[in-house]
Parts: sequence; C-alpha cells; structure tokens
Amino acid sequence: MLSPTVESALNDQISIESHSSNAYLALASWCETKGMEGSAKFFYLQSEEERAHMLRLFKYINDSGGKALTPALNQPRTDFSDIMEVVEYFLKGEVRVSDGINKLVYIATQEKDYTTLNFLQWYVAEQHEEETTARNIKDKINLIGLEANGLYLIDKEIGALAAVKPAASEPAN
Ligand code: FEO
Repeated sequence: MLSPTVESALNDQISIESHSSNAYLALASWCETKGMEGSAKFFYLQSEEERAHMLRLFKYINDSGGKALTPALNQPRTDFSDIMEVVEYFLKGEVRVSDGINKLVYIATQEKDYTTLNFLQWYVAEQHEEETTARNIKDKINLIGLEANGLYLIDKEIGALAAVKPAASEPAN
C-alpha cells in the first residue's frame, strides 16, 4: 500500500517521463526535417522509451492500490539552432528525469517504503545509462565538429546508437 506522499511523488514522476516522451518526439521531428535521419530514429526510440518508463510507473501505482493520473501535456520546445543544441536539450532533460528519480528515492526512504525503493532501483540504473549516452553524444559532436562533413558523420554516429537500442516495450508488470 502506498502512502499518499509516495503516491503523489510517483505521479509527479509520471508527469516528468511523459513530458520527456513528448519533448523527444519534438527532437525527432526537428532532426527529420533537417535531413538527419539517423538522429531522428534515435529520438523516436528515446520518445518510445520514455513512454515505457511512464507506463511502468502507471502500472506500479495501480498495482499497489493507488491511482495513476494521466498528466497534462505542455507544448515542448521545437526550435533549435543546430544538433548540438538538440543534444544539450536532451542531456538537460535526462538530468531533470534523474533529479525526479533521486527525489523519489529520498521520499520512499523517508516513508520507509522499501517496496517502492526496490522498484526504483531499475530507474536509478537506467538514468545513469541515459545520462552517459547523452554526454557521449555531446563529446562526439565536439570531437567531429559541425563543419564540412561533420553533420553527416554525427548523424551516422547517433543513428548507430539507435540501431543497437532494443525496441522499447511496455512493461509486463
Ligand atoms: Fe525515463 Fe530518460 O528516463
């Protein structure tokens, strides 16, 4: 059984994950309309992943006797000057998600909710991975540069990341 405090904090995280899914869809669209097909593929997959993260929380709340709330969606940012700005926005988004997870872990600890703490471990590991991915892409862009064939190479590199990503699936539990 969830305490009202934990339930409310979990619902806040649903909202954050949902916003990320929407925001990354906008990034996919930006990339696709700039001819960066590899990057678009990567952000479409990221968007799907965030939705899967949101659904995992949804199921957990409802299965634990609480009520998952469908969040309202805000219009995400759609304009960027270049791919570096897109990736910086992506990294900022991941840091925001991590902050939300850390806050949740803190609240679950305060509430002595060890079941929720256990549930959150998957998110802690996932966030570490996602932040690392975003930072690695940023490093690669810095290394390659945006001039000459840079954009082509960057798009290939980001697209290669999409190719090794498992398709996001909806949680079984
Ligand atoms: Fe749902 Fe990118 O974390």
